[in-house]
Formats: sequence, C-alpha cells, structure tokens
Amino acid sequence: MDMKVKNWSGTIPRPVGLIIRQKDPNNLEMPFDQLDDFITPTELFYIRSHFPTPELDPLSYRLSTGGAVRRELSMSYADIRAMPSRSCIATLECAGNGRVFLAPPVPGAQWELGAVGNAEWTGVPLSFLLEHAGLADDVVEIVLEGADRGAPKEEPKPPGQISYARSIRRARAMEHDVLIAYQMNGQDLPPDHGYPLRAIVPGHYGMASVKWLTNIVAATQPFQGYWQTSDYGYWDDSDGTPVRRPLAEMHLKSQIALPRVYERLQPNRPYTIFGAAWAGDTDVTEIWISLDGGASWVKGDFIDPINRHAWRRWKYDWTTPPRPGRYTLLARATAADGCVQPDGHNPNFGSYVIDHPLPIEVFVTSLEACPGS
Ligand code: MTE
Repeated sequence: MDMKVKNWSGTIPRPVGLIIRQKDPNNLEMPFDQLDDFITPTELFYIRSHFPTPELDPLSYRLSTGGAVRRELSMSYADIRAMPSRSCIATLECAGNGRVFLAPPVPGAQWELGAVGNAEWTGVPLSFLLEHAGLADDVVEIVLEGADRGAPKEEPKPPGQISYARSIRRARAMEHDVLIAYQMNGQDLPPDHGYPLRAIVPGHYGMASVKWLTNIVAATQPFQGYWQTSDYGYWDDSDGTPVRRPLAEMHLKSQIALPRVYERLQPNRPYTIFGAAWAGDTDVTEIWISLDGGASWVKGDFIDPINRHAWRRWKYDWTTPPRPGRYTLLARATAADGCVQPDGHNPNFGSYVIDHPLPIEVFVTSLEACPGS
C-alpha cells in the first residue's frame, strides 16, 4: 500500500495482510481467521476511512475546543502529549461489519468478518479538556470533527464538501475512558488510524471514534450532521412514529474465526471452534455454539476474562461429524443485561448493525478427499 507519510516516525510502516475492500480512501479488513491474540496487532487492525488520509504536521497541528464553553482552548500536539494520560483496551467494530451476509445484497463496502479489532489506546481523557474548558450548563452533546474532507457519494448527498464529524452525548463524553488518543498498542497512531490524534469512544460503533481530530465543539442542541442522520443513522419507534436516530452503542455480537467459511474438515476428528464476542456497554457472559444450523446449541468456553469494552475470545472443542456433508456453524452470545443476539437482521438498521448469528458453512469430506489425511 502506498502511503505518503509526513512527520510520522512510527515503526509500523504500512498495513500488511489486510483484505482490500477499497483503495483511496483506504478501506481494509482483517482476515478474521487470523484472530490469534487478545490484542489485534496494529498492522492487522481494519481501516475504515471515508476520505483520503490527511497529512497533518504535528508541529503546526492544533486541537480547538469551543462552542458553549467558558474558555476556548487551542492546544498543540505537544500540549496534549504533556497532559496526564491513561490507557484502555477497547474493541472497535465498524457498524457495517458483516454486511456481505445480508440478503438481498445492500450497497456499501462488502465487509466480511474483519471490520473489527481490539487494541490498547493511550491518550488524554476527553473529560480533562472539557473540564478545563468549562461546559455551559445547557450543553447536551460534544461534536468531534476530523481534518479529512470530501463529498460523500451516497444519497442524499449534502451540498459541496464536508468534514467527518460525529457527536456523543454529554454524559458519555465525561466518562474517563473516552480518550483523545495518540497511541495504539504502545506506539504513535499510524496515519490511517488517525495520526496525530483521534477520539476513542469505547462501547460505541467505530464511527464515533473520530480520527485526525481537530475540533471539539460543545453543542446545546443534538447535532444533525450528515454522519449522524443520513449515514450511520437508523429508524427508531417513537409511539408508533418512525424517527431517525444516530447509531451509538455496539450491539452484542459473536463471530466464528475458525473454521473459515467453506473450510474442508476431516470426519470424526477433534477440532477447536474459535472466535470472539463483544458488546457495547455490558459484558458478554455466555457463548453458545450450534453445529447444526441453529437446531440445537452447546455452551462454549471463554479464553479471556471479562474486561469491559474489550472482546472475549472463546472456544468449543468439537469432534467433527462422522458423516460427510455440509454443516452450518453458528455462535450466539448472551450478555450480563440479559440480551441475546437476535435471530435475524433488523431492517430498521438498514445496512448496519449486522448482529445476528452469522452462518459459517463447512464441508466434512470423506478421508480420501481430505488433503494430508
Ligand atoms: N474519523 C474520520 N475523521 N474519518 C473517517 O472516515 N471513519 C470512522 C471512524 N473515524 C472515520 C473516522 C469509522 S466509520 C470507523 S469504523 C472507525 O473510524 C475506524 O477506525 P480505524 O480506521 O482506525 O479502524
């Protein structure tokens, strides 16, 4: 991947091994069968960008905080790096992850399973800046705006070029793990992941974690920008009337990493089914696996402990069926708040929130047909 980098001195030169869904802007996904570690290596972490990656010079870079505040702030990259910092581990999932499983097909990047990753993020709590700026009493949301600009291609198109901007509710913005991050997995953010600074909003779909963050605006009205209404919105029900709302918290979800779709397996052999499960603002507490397309379910085991906002890898030790044939595997998670993954996709979410158990079809072949058997 050709990447023009200015003033970026990180040690991860370029993503390798990611599946290209789109180039310029870069939209690349992780081959999910390479889910090995709890922490996704940075070079395997998916990239989802709406516009080309902006080249930002950390020496001239400013992060402004304004809107309904008592004191407007303008900070340099060095100012932010000198502030007290904290680290958190958070799973980011693109709201369109798994779109290729929707039938009939829907427009948009045809993500398979890999528009999700789990990283350690380090930076300054957003609340630190907001407290310093002093929010007015009537502030309801905090708008986060990135330096990237362009003209969206999806209808209804806004006039001219716009920047990427999303808002989060005031209470969420004040939570200590919402970060203005400058490091990912212990190293400076790579350009495609938001260098020099990005927001990290744990528990929300990835669209909330604005990259190349340049403006923070305290708003006294809910923000109605393009990425909040036309895109990354869904239809909610308000006393029988459909109303448009912005997507926010990630829904409970689990995915199978191994076996892969259409993998050929030997009959009557031990095979460890392996995957990960995550949730927005709750904890994943159980994982159930179906080996027969959803007719029956068996309980799997977690590999990782509960760590709020981070995924939990899980496994199930299976003995493959003795009879050759086509088998459909499914995984379904349960959460601490009692939620279970739904049976199917809710059309009110359009081409987003693909949170139902995703079928992984495998072939058990006769021993002679299996390579290496
Ligand atoms: N921030 C800006 N400025 N521009 C973008 O296009 N994409 C969003 C979010 N932040 C985006 C952005 C979306 S849709 C996702 S899923 C995450 O960034 C992806 O973050 P990553 O590319 O670091 O994985």
